[in-house]
Amino acid sequence: MDSEELLNQLNVKNRTNTLDLAVENKIDHQKVIGIVNSILALNSNIITAVPVTNKCWELTSEGESILLNGSYEANVFKYIPPDGIPQKDLMSLPHAKIGFSQAMSKGWISIDRSINKVVRKTSSIIDQVKDDLAKLKISSDEIADSAKQDYKKRKLIREVIIKSFDLKKGPEFTTTITKLETELTPDMIQSGSWKTTQFKSYNFEALGQTLDFGCLHPLLKVRADIRQIFLEMGFTEMPTNNFVESSFWNFDSLFQPQQHPARDSHDTFFLDEPKSSENFPNCYLNKVKDVHSKGGYGSQGYGYNWSIEEAKKNVLRTHTTAVSARMLYSLANNFKPSKYFSIDRVFRNETLDATHLAEFHQVEGVIADYNLTLGDLIGILYMFFERLGMTELKFKPAYNPYTEPSMEIFCYHKGLGKWIEIGNSGMFRPEMLLPMGLPEKVNVIAWGLSLERPTMIKYGINNIRDLVGPKVNLQMVQINPICRLDK
Ligand code: PHE
Repeated sequence: MDSEELLNQLNVKNRTNTLDLAVENKIDHQKVIGIVNSILALNSNIITAVPVTNKCWELTSEGESILLNGSYEANVFKYIPPDGIPQKDLMSLPHAKIGFSQAMSKGWISIDRSINKVVRKTSSIIDQVKDDLAKLKISSDEIADSAKQDYKKRKLIREVIIKSFDLKKGPEFTTTITKLETELTPDMIQSGSWKTTQFKSYNFEALGQTLDFGCLHPLLKVRADIRQIFLEMGFTEMPTNNFVESSFWNFDSLFQPQQHPARDSHDTFFLDEPKSSENFPNCYLNKVKDVHSKGGYGSQGYGYNWSIEEAKKNVLRTHTTAVSARMLYSLANNFKPSKYFSIDRVFRNETLDATHLAEFHQVEGVIADYNLTLGDLIGILYMFFERLGMTELKFKPAYNPYTEPSMEIFCYHKGLGKWIEIGNSGMFRPEMLLPMGLPEKVNVIAWGLSLERPTMIKYGINNIRDLVGPKVNLQMVQINPICRLDK
């Protein structure tokens, strides 16, 4: 059927309905609606179409299967041989339980206690359910409402609402349709035929094609947000573009003893090639060696034989605090109060699970100034986390080789309704700062957190593998909105 055919049929009937047209022409109802819409788009006065809604019944897939194979009760009935069958044998039939109870309540079968078998009570039955479903498929009018409700309860049929249109001739009714031109061509201009040609008007409501576009991964969006927060607070970004770091900067400069378990290969990835670093600032290196082995600056040190070979070993950096150490060392050269931050990747040889990968991103803030206190650290943490949308904080004493005191940071997550650990912080030890040559009265407060944790919370992602790695659903990346940390 096309537009003109529909108009011809309407011409004969004067009024009709799209559902009737679909049945009479044996085509899909949606197709008829499409034709009606295209006629209306051409000229809304050719026909009038009034939307109507009809309720009707359709078979569920279970209903369809009964229509094909018979009702469960009929099947139970048919399965019973003339001399009966033990009830448990009957139960092997599909849907035997329902079939059995329906057949019992319809009085088709009974249990003969004298032989302990289920037997037929009548010689033949009519499978009313199957017959009704067949009728319902054509029209539901013949079936009693109570039966319909019964089948609905048994989930064999469901009520659906069908939207259709009542059609009448419009004020400018015609059965011939001039196809409107959609494009102005050079030919039309040359011949002048454009003057008399009817053009289709533009549909400004039409949705355009979806464009291919690049998009930022959630981690990058949250990184951009956190970077913005640091910049607004007057922090300068540290250069973090070296994933490979010497053990010296990753551990030794941070007063992390060479026997410390974190330096073990279980936690740290050591490099085979290049295996080690050279060219450390000699004078500083000697001070680091001394503070580890002998102490100084009011500290006893660890009292072990510090090995340069151990310090030379290259690792994938296990924290961005290695970068902070390099920054503080160069700051000592010409000290002025400074605020630094970094957000970049670190590597740890962890057991992989739903929340841990062998690499993740660390967010780190560092402030160096005269006479800073733990109170300053707590204050700045409140300021920083408030901007991340976390206003309730708790601190718990912790241990890091390079900070004293150290605090774990917990925040109350309103969405999850519980306290979660969000970061780690502390004041860098004099054993770390003084060998670098920082003035004695200078204190350095610092904190670190992972970028993944807040990102997973904000985006409601429970498994880190849904966020990072080959199993990431690219559509998730495309459709996730920009995430506002303060909301
Ligand atoms: N480097 C610490 C970690 O890996 C984080 C931290 C940074 C702790 C600065 C204290 C001070 O967890």
